Amino acid sequence: MPVEVHVVSQDEFDDWTASKRGAAAADAALAAQELSVDDLMARGADIYNASCLACHGAKGEGGLGNAIAGSAIAMGGVDSHLNVIVNGVAGTAMQAFGAQLSDVDVAAVTTYQRNAFGNNTGDVVQASDVVSYKEG
Ligand code: HEC
Repeated sequence: MPVEVHVVSQDEFDDWTASKRGAAAADAALAAQELSVDDLMARGADIYNASCLACHGAKGEGGLGNAIAGSAIAMGGVDSHLNVIVNGVAGTAMQAFGAQLSDVDVAAVTTYQRNAFGNNTGDVVQASDVVSYKEG
């Protein structure tokens, strides 16, 4: 197996390790961001209206997609709910949003669906929950 060796100065090496640390810290900061319920609901409503409403309806009544109001998935286990949003449902119009939405946005729209349209579960899903879910 060919091995590439880069000879760099100590300064270059220090810069490189610092930049790696910076990127990791930025990712961790984003995942650690805790939003208030109000912020999650407001952000979730925006995402729902832009990306989900067309199929799931303005009141969560459904249409091309299943109803979210009273949905056993939106009111059941959080992991099953995240599974549908992150991975989609193969062979249906429900696409995987895991790569399109940031972890904070997945958290917000999940919280929104669990508490809007009369689904008053009281559940709050944060970005850190989405990260844990994705890591399995
Ligand atoms: C192009 C249409 C479409 C869009 C856009 C869409 N969905 Fe779906 N969604 C579906 C369909 C169809 C199903 C039913 C899949 C099946 O047969 O299990 C579904 C199912 C679901 C379910 C499970 C509901 C249940 O009780 O079965 C959830 C939760 C869900 N979608 C969330 C979302 C979220 C969140 C968004 C926006 C980020 C979104 N969907 C955008 C079509 C869509």
